[in-house]
Amino acid sequence: LASIQVDVSGVEPGMSLTVKWRGRPVFIRNRTDKEIEEARAVALADLKDPVARNANIAADAPATDIDRSAGEGKENWLVMIGVCTHLGCVPLGQAGDFGGWFCPCHGSHYDTAGRIRKGPAPENLAVPTFEFVSDTVIQVG
Ligand code: FES
Repeated sequence: LASIQVDVSGVEPGMSLTVKWRGRPVFIRNRTDKEIEEARAVALADLKDPVARNANIAADAPATDIDRSAGEGKENWLVMIGVCTHLGCVPLGQAGDFGGWFCPCHGSHYDTAGRIRKGPAPENLAVPTFEFVSDTVIQVG
């Protein structure tokens, strides 16, 4: 199947969902205001990977919080391929030094915008092509 639709109506702020798409996990997280604020407070200069890695926008877009998220009005939502950019393990959610994800394989820490902040992973978690097809349904792919 090329694309999937996911009902996120039950995903409250602070909760997340993992679905499978093209054989890989996709993390969908409804961020709290605090998590968004933390991600926004980070200077781009402090990021290991300053590129958004978001398939929905320009390839060279910077890794600002808004460009990592589902965009204006939906900035609480993050949709990302759940595969560590180091050697492909599946990171654990709500974990690590930056409150985002932690990859236990070799210790990569991602922040609440899925950006790599510490450890061997070279890139931010990838944002796949997706869109909201209604207020509560996300289509991935
Ligand atoms: Fe995630 Fe190595 S695969 S840190």
